[in-house]
Amino acid sequence: MTKITNLIKKMSLEEKAALCTGAGPWTTTPVERLGVPEMTVTDGPHGVRRLEDVHTFISTSLPATAFPTAGCMASTWDVDLIHELGQAIAEECIALDVDVILGPGVNMKRTPLCGRNFEYYSEDPHLAGEMAVSFINGVQSKGVGTSLKHFAANNQEYQRSTINSEIDERTLRETYLPAFEAAVKKASPWTVMCSYNKLNGTYAAENHRLLTEILKEEWGFEGLVVSDWGSVHDRVEALEAGLDLEMPGPRERRVQAVIDAVRSGKLDESVLDEAVNRILNIVFKAAETKKGGSFDVDRHHALARQVAGEGIVLLKNDGILPLKIHKQVAVIGRSAKEAHYQGGGSSHINPTRLDNPYEELQKMAGETELSYAEGYPDDENFDQALIDQACENARSADAALLYLSLPATKESEGYDRPDLDLTSHQVALIKAVAAVQPNTIVILNNGAPIVMSEWIDDTAAVLEAWMMGQAGGGAIADVLYGKVNPSGKLAETFPLKLVDTPAYINYPGENGAVRYGEGIFMGYRYYETKEVPTLFPFGYGMSYTTFDYQKPKVSSQTFQDVDGLTVSVDVTNTGNLAGKEIVQVYVGDHKSSLARPPKELKGFAKIELQPGETKTLTVSLDFRAFAYYHPAYRQWITEDGEFDILIGASSTDIRCTKTVTLHSTLELPSILNRESTLREWTKDSRGMSVLAPLYQQINDQMLANFGGDDSEQLGMDPMGFLLDTPLMGLLHFLGSSMPTSPEEMVNELLTKVYSIA
Ligand code: BGC
Repeated sequence: MTKITNLIKKMSLEEKAALCTGAGPWTTTPVERLGVPEMTVTDGPHGVRRLEDVHTFISTSLPATAFPTAGCMASTWDVDLIHELGQAIAEECIALDVDVILGPGVNMKRTPLCGRNFEYYSEDPHLAGEMAVSFINGVQSKGVGTSLKHFAANNQEYQRSTINSEIDERTLRETYLPAFEAAVKKASPWTVMCSYNKLNGTYAAENHRLLTEILKEEWGFEGLVVSDWGSVHDRVEALEAGLDLEMPGPRERRVQAVIDAVRSGKLDESVLDEAVNRILNIVFKAAETKKGGSFDVDRHHALARQVAGEGIVLLKNDGILPLKIHKQVAVIGRSAKEAHYQGGGSSHINPTRLDNPYEELQKMAGETELSYAEGYPDDENFDQALIDQACENARSADAALLYLSLPATKESEGYDRPDLDLTSHQVALIKAVAAVQPNTIVILNNGAPIVMSEWIDDTAAVLEAWMMGQAGGGAIADVLYGKVNPSGKLAETFPLKLVDTPAYINYPGENGAVRYGEGIFMGYRYYETKEVPTLFPFGYGMSYTTFDYQKPKVSSQTFQDVDGLTVSVDVTNTGNLAGKEIVQVYVGDHKSSLARPPKELKGFAKIELQPGETKTLTVSLDFRAFAYYHPAYRQWITEDGEFDILIGASSTDIRCTKTVTLHSTLELPSILNRESTLREWTKDSRGMSVLAPLYQQINDQMLANFGGDDSEQLGMDPMGFLLDTPLMGLLHFLGSSMPTSPEEMVNELLTKVYSIA
């Protein structure tokens, strides 16, 4: 018997029930008598928010490195760097006596209005999944746990604790679950945190299908499921659904409810034992990592600067960047002196130090004289005097750097964004400054897309610097002066306007429910399918150098789904500066039984190239890269046929295409039923073999009923009508000419179909 099974046997019912609810806001319940220690968890996800006193809900937190938020991390597309970042966070957890960090967050960016998008990676499940895998593996390689959150379908802050996310099965499987699935299967997070919302009518915390059937049984998750803070509604139901640990505690009534339920026979004690087993496994695993010591503040600050530098996306550059040493540069905007480097809410870190963007710029500006103007107030009020001052400085300078950040009223955890705009003051400021200074460069600090049509044409360059972490001020200067050649690419589409966004008519929902009506057509999958123009497409980002793509190759022209494919391409740096390129591999299915987006990201790689240097880059595509989820088969399926392998610098900048032919190895069962149409019967090989003797007769008789071949009679193509009518319905039309009743005939045909192996 293992140590833990032994322990469970020794625990009283009261002790077991108590273990399943936290002892405090951030700690689990210890069982001193049996040597079960307390486990400490803290937010997350881009730094350690360890409170001085972990037994209080909100108090000063200990200094820790505020790394760039997930939106910026994902724009690096650099899995090795994110792994290193995860390791650094783990080192801080160890020094600050933390067992599990509450992150990463892998919810999809369904709408750019979600106030918490800065804490999430992407609108693309593959990219988000890969980022999460690296982050988790990085943290856990040091013996510190993670909490993959928020499981699942928490894609808006509006009514986040009650909203019912209504999502069809295919969309759930293809869009909202895969990042979780990849993280669970490839990185085994110690814990998974359920979300606040309902999914198709049931709260995530009490959702057996989600927590037990999909997460634990289907994906093989072995860690513990923790509630989001306060997301449990019925403790006993939640336990039965697979929610192991309720946080925060203490909640004596909840513990008592579990005890009562076991005593009354309502709750099987084995369900409680299973949760206890999972919790004890993690608690003891965490205890194996000795805590204490210190962490390397300087090294982590430098790493934060590196990640920010790699995540910053150069959106526009008419040639003004990298900056030369000018005589005078006007620095405008409050966020040049008060860095906007993280978002509001549970992820808010007390940084070990904080770069002042203006001072960092000064360090690199050499002889250039910098002037400063505040530019805009720290709220949404209007102050013309600030604009006038900014213009005066800009007019006499050689260039103007406009540092603009979104105020917390426009973006934070806990509420959604009212719009995608900068403040009206900021827009007026850009326009006024750009009118007097053609070399106007805008530097943005925000966590999610903003619209720019009103002003972008007036500017010379635009840099998306995100919520860039505590060292972001330095990273901006690095990019502006070319110490770092920008290589970040967008992990989410920047729309031209809010009404263009995929969820627009199905957001934020009403009567307590939000319907994911756009289905799998979210993010670039939507814009491409509908041919909606965007401001900047998914995967886009500029560099100070240029790259050429040559010699695309696939490992095989025709292949079996289970073997997958290897794709390679030669990339050459054709400019004069060293730089990094993010190569993206998309897959597009020529023809499929269910609708699919024109292309989907299935692989990517980042490489560094010196001027003139060429490297061959290889990406592997597996079964899932070609499959889609078929709700009728309840599984991922592939279909024979041609696929395009699209190798690009962004989702719209495709540089090479190879067409390959896939052979599916799947033996799919028939999904014909009593409602299946004639077309469905003819497309099903087993169905057609069984129906064949009758098929001609049905056709002939029905066509005769329609007036023979003379389609003029009804002004329609009778065959089109016939094909989309259920077989049963056609048999009803034929009535007495058939030997038995339509119901009997269809039942008999179906029996034959299902008896074919
Ligand atoms: C957030 C979680 C966070 C938890 C603890 C919740 O409100 O949704 O992401 O980890 O609080 O602070």
